[in-house]
Amino acid sequence: MRTSQPQTIYLNDYRVPAFLVDHVDLRFELFEDGARVHSVLSMRRNPDSGDRSGALELDGDSLRLESVALNGSPLSAGQYEDHGDRLVVAGVPEAFELAVVTWIEPQNNTRLEGLYKSSGMFCTQCEAEGFRCITYFPDRPDVMARFRTRIEADKTAYPILLSNGNDTEQGDLADGRHYVTWEDPFPKPCYLFALVAGNLLEKRDTFTTLSGRAIDLRMYVEPRNAEKCDYAMDSLKRSMRWDEQVYGREYDLDIFMIVAVDDFNMGAMENKGLNIFNSSCVLASQDTATDLAFQRIEAIVAHEYFHNWSGNRVTCRDWFQLSLKEGFTVFRDSQFSSDMGSPTVKRIEDVTLLRTAQFAEDGGPMAHPVRPASYMEISNFYTLTIYEKGAEVVRMIHTLLGPELFRKGSDLYFDRHDGQAVTTDDFVTAMEDASGRDLSQFRLWYEQAGTPVLDVSDHYDAQGGTYSLSITQNIPDTPGQKDKKPQHIPFALGLLDSQGQDMALNLAGEGDEAPTERVLDLTEVSHTFEFTGVSERPVPSLLRHFSAPVRVVYHWTREQLLFLMSHDTDGFNRWDAGQRLAVDVIQSLVGAPVDAEIEPRLAAAYRQLLSDESLDQALVAKMMQLPSEAYLIELANSPDVQAIHRARERVLSHLADALRPDLLNCYQRHGTDGDYGLSPQEVSGRSLRNTALAWLLHIDDKEGRDLAIRQFGEADNMTDRLGALRALVNSGFVSDREQALEQFYQRYSEDPQVVEQWFSVQASNPATGNLEQIRRLVTHDAFDWKNPNKVRSVIGVFAGQNLASFHAADGSGYRFLAEQVSRLDNSNPQIAARLVSPLTRWRKFAPVHGEQMKTALERIRDKTGLSRDVYEVVHKSLAG
Ligand code: BES
Ligand code: ZN
Repeated sequence: MRTSQPQTIYLNDYRVPAFLVDHVDLRFELFEDGARVHSVLSMRRNPDSGDRSGALELDGDSLRLESVALNGSPLSAGQYEDHGDRLVVAGVPEAFELAVVTWIEPQNNTRLEGLYKSSGMFCTQCEAEGFRCITYFPDRPDVMARFRTRIEADKTAYPILLSNGNDTEQGDLADGRHYVTWEDPFPKPCYLFALVAGNLLEKRDTFTTLSGRAIDLRMYVEPRNAEKCDYAMDSLKRSMRWDEQVYGREYDLDIFMIVAVDDFNMGAMENKGLNIFNSSCVLASQDTATDLAFQRIEAIVAHEYFHNWSGNRVTCRDWFQLSLKEGFTVFRDSQFSSDMGSPTVKRIEDVTLLRTAQFAEDGGPMAHPVRPASYMEISNFYTLTIYEKGAEVVRMIHTLLGPELFRKGSDLYFDRHDGQAVTTDDFVTAMEDASGRDLSQFRLWYEQAGTPVLDVSDHYDAQGGTYSLSITQNIPDTPGQKDKKPQHIPFALGLLDSQGQDMALNLAGEGDEAPTERVLDLTEVSHTFEFTGVSERPVPSLLRHFSAPVRVVYHWTREQLLFLMSHDTDGFNRWDAGQRLAVDVIQSLVGAPVDAEIEPRLAAAYRQLLSDESLDQALVAKMMQLPSEAYLIELANSPDVQAIHRARERVLSHLADALRPDLLNCYQRHGTDGDYGLSPQEVSGRSLRNTALAWLLHIDDKEGRDLAIRQFGEADNMTDRLGALRALVNSGFVSDREQALEQFYQRYSEDPQVVEQWFSVQASNPATGNLEQIRRLVTHDAFDWKNPNKVRSVIGVFAGQNLASFHAADGSGYRFLAEQVSRLDNSNPQIAARLVSPLTRWRKFAPVHGEQMKTALERIRDKTGLSRDVYEVVHKSLAG
């Protein structure tokens, strides 16, 4: 608990560590009423440090110190200072051994950082600064040490004892206890340390590396989850093969383990050789997991596995460099997912998240660069900017260099820095050195926050056959940053003729070699590009594949958008044209009279999409998703949430009315014959069929209702069952909805992952998730304030997805969120701080709402004993 104002930490204050740790010897005695941790650190002064005589300082948090010994001699109380968050020992020699014993209480650890208990098992989460909750240690990523870990516990209650590396010894102890010793040969920062102890079921498999080494793959889950491991295990093997083939990276230890735990602040964690996963991100079966959940599991398993190189073998020098491992690894897992499925669909999903949530972050009070310059609490910086924008920055390097030079760059990076803790700048330098390209201006992407806006205008000269495109970039001010320099933006484009063919892109002054797609380098504030030999006025297809994380402003006519939607040769931009058209139509109805006409060509375009079976059905499934309320709000200035909600609902009803026969037809066409499978065709078939169902029930169609009830009862998989449930919940068939919700709960009440989905369905919908209903959900037997997944599935979903209810006119949604944040801050500050986010953009909203949101933030601010996590978010949101 905080006693004084939290300190800000600055990148500019970075100093190399004064002491290094060569070896760590840990012994854990695990009991029901606590754990004793014996740590022996082999340390020496860092020859590279300017500080050659200072005292030794170790980080600690919530520890009870039992003893300290230097080179075997116990220190008396006067020979060290225990400041709680720091242990100081003065007068240590050049090299020495420090032995520290601490007592901790994992069973009472509700923050879920350090060592804690989840459903009866012991587990750890040490990133970013959780290791200091276990023992005193220089808890910073540039201190890398070899770890040996001995775990002792009751043999019946905790038959499985795991840590990083290889198990080297085990045996029985007195009183029914036993021990296992693990040794990790690779030096690592302490944030990659992990320990697990429990009564777990083991699933085994093997993987043979390209060089012929056999790796033992093991998953550990609670016995009731025995049937939910296969998909993650297969995903792991696909990831291992892919990293060998695409990046030339082999796995390095003999064992790779995955453990599933129910209580986890994040999705999963890449601890060396012992990845720990949130159950919801690893356990799946046909009956309990949706297609989306399967995809997510594949991506997260890959992500954590890929960290073994991008994060573990080469790690971060300090936490300002977080995107070095996270941005790069998100880029790697997105490449992997596109290779495993449809690249266009994967790109659409990534860009949707980026434009909806990261752009919002980048335009709000928490905006920060991909490499931040300061922070108060590092846990608050695991953001969409670090992850998603960070991945886009790596993607742009890939675009600028091309795949071969990028691979040369990544090889050089891994070779040059293996075993080191480095910076994003080292990464860019490796890319420059391997390619010969100058990325000095490009580095601004790491330093400047804010989403660049590209204003595009064009002019066609029929006489001269020239087409000119003017592009101006402007980067908005963000907290602490003004008057930004222009960034290096790779801008991919094509020009379509009236037949929908790509035209040759000849720039004035060039030879005749003329590609039909090219990437322009934008480096100045303004550029004008003149294309020659252009025989008719083209329709521009701008920022193809979303080649840079920017906003493009160009005044497309609706004709042009309709044309691109059905003709663009870039699948991503086809989708984008459809989104822009839908956004334009919905926006034009916001605040309009209820009988205002709705653009008839929108329904016609969707009808064509639904009827043309030659189209890529995965792309069609994506194109049929209307832009979300969250995205529409993000695009608006002073958004009127209720009006946006109504306008979007109106368009949906209009489309469903107009397309009723086509939707029924689409539903039948994508029927459920044959066994369940996860091929792209099957997944997109289910997606289309469930979208059709949702649209039909949106207009309370009777035939749709019968189909939904039948599908709900007969489905052989969770995608269809939940699709039917969601459609019923979205309909006016109140008693069917209540009955289905009840049946669903009865059927799955023993399965936490499914119960979480049941909570989410209700919390996301205004009909089942008004505040009164939300208050009932949080008192439901299955709800648990100590479980982050439950909190997210009700409160997070309510505030983040059920926007019409959250932004209720009387401000009750905001007050409710403030109450819950204050309550959660006492038990789990990380989760509390993340929940504040919907309130942080109060300035964006119309005066009344904005003031109410601000008041809610102030109520949180005024709580006594606010954590550093929540303090930082609330104070930055209110500042300025
Ligand atoms: N290293 C993180 C997990 C983490 C984040 C631990 C913050 C502690 C604090 C892990 O690699 C990660 O990024 N996980 C993501 C999922 C991933 C697919 C983007 C997560 O947990 O959401
Ligand atoms: Zn990660």
